[in-house]
Amino acid sequence: MKILSIETSCDDTGISILEAKGATAKASFKVLADSLAIQDHAQYGGVFPMMAKKEHLKNLPILLEKVLKKTKLDKKTKPVDAIAVTYGPGLEPCLWTGIVLAQEIGKKWGVPVIPTNHMEGHILSVFGKTKGKFNFPKVKFPLLALLVSGGHTELVLVKDFSKYKIIGKTLDDAAGEAFDKVARMLGLPYPGGPHISKLAETARNLSEGSLAQADGPSRENFQQKIIRADSGKAPRQLFPRPMMYSKNFDFSFSGLKTSVLYYIRDNKNYDKAEVAMEFENAVVDTLVHKTKKAIEKYKIETVVVAGGVAANKHLKAEMKKLTKNKIKLYFPTRELSRDNSVMIGIAGYLNYLKKGGRFGNASKIKATGDLSL
Ligand code: KG4
Ligand code: ZN
Repeated sequence: MKILSIETSCDDTGISILEAKGATAKASFKVLADSLAIQDHAQYGGVFPMMAKKEHLKNLPILLEKVLKKTKLDKKTKPVDAIAVTYGPGLEPCLWTGIVLAQEIGKKWGVPVIPTNHMEGHILSVFGKTKGKFNFPKVKFPLLALLVSGGHTELVLVKDFSKYKIIGKTLDDAAGEAFDKVARMLGLPYPGGPHISKLAETARNLSEGSLAQADGPSRENFQQKIIRADSGKAPRQLFPRPMMYSKNFDFSFSGLKTSVLYYIRDNKNYDKAEVAMEFENAVVDTLVHKTKKAIEKYKIETVVVAGGVAANKHLKAEMKKLTKNKIKLYFPTRELSRDNSVMIGIAGYLNYLKKGGRFGNASKIKATGDLSL
């Protein structure tokens, strides 16, 4: 069957058309068309919901035309068999733009509208591609999903396809949100995650060779660290790892953000790259440690890391170390780690199968900002 999928939960507008077939565990997909319009909210220092909504309204008809043209499907007849649309979680004014479009074209074409959970999309994104064909690999359940995005930080026990249990979550800021806030303190543009990550990488790569050319605080800090490492002492940690040793799977990033704030206030000559690296280390250490604990407790053999922060190289490297050859590890491709509509098409197809294709009145679908898995 052909599914048109729509994603408008935050600041990216996406529409895709996928061909999907097979039973849940053996589902296979072909991307017939994929489109994404990335909005730029840098000037507001964060996503400005009303501007994002306006942009979605402008982008949606353009993207719809684009995917129909690419697939040569006739919009006057019934070009697809179903429409999957994100109805939460996310920014409600934004979610509504996608839902209203889905309701309109669903009615016009006489096809069901599948309300789809954005976070389920992120979990399944690790099995997808933005081009060509793919299918679900054989995975061993229960699977553990670490969802890390701008709005969420969750550890989810996936007992089977479509069966989710949140075992831990952030009590305050999401991991991506912490990256964005710290980036702002360091004068980096929004979204800050990729900028912090790049800076942190420069610090991490500072070998003795490049230190010879480095100057200023960078050089001193790193020389100190190397001396400490050589003397067998653990390198100092600038920032705390909040809740790392709490006996549950919850997270907290707000205190970490505050320690960064105090550090840069009290150390006028601080080194940006070092702060970025130390902050990134603190976030990644916490995420990896809790994932490790959950792997042990639930005897996990498959780990999935998804959401915008899954693009973080250091997180990926540390997760690889943690799982080594024992545990199967899935990360999304770069394109599918950020918000996209391919993942909504995949999740939509699973929901379609789960409900046997029977969906109620599409006009009853409501944007649900705080929708849970
Ligand atoms: O999943 P996503 O695209 O949107 C939400 O649903 O929130 O995630 C966006 C978040 C932003 O906070 C962004 O700063 C963060 O993901 N992010 C990163 C990286 N790339 C994006 N954080 C850390 N390192 C990265 N490389
Ligand atoms: Zn997302």
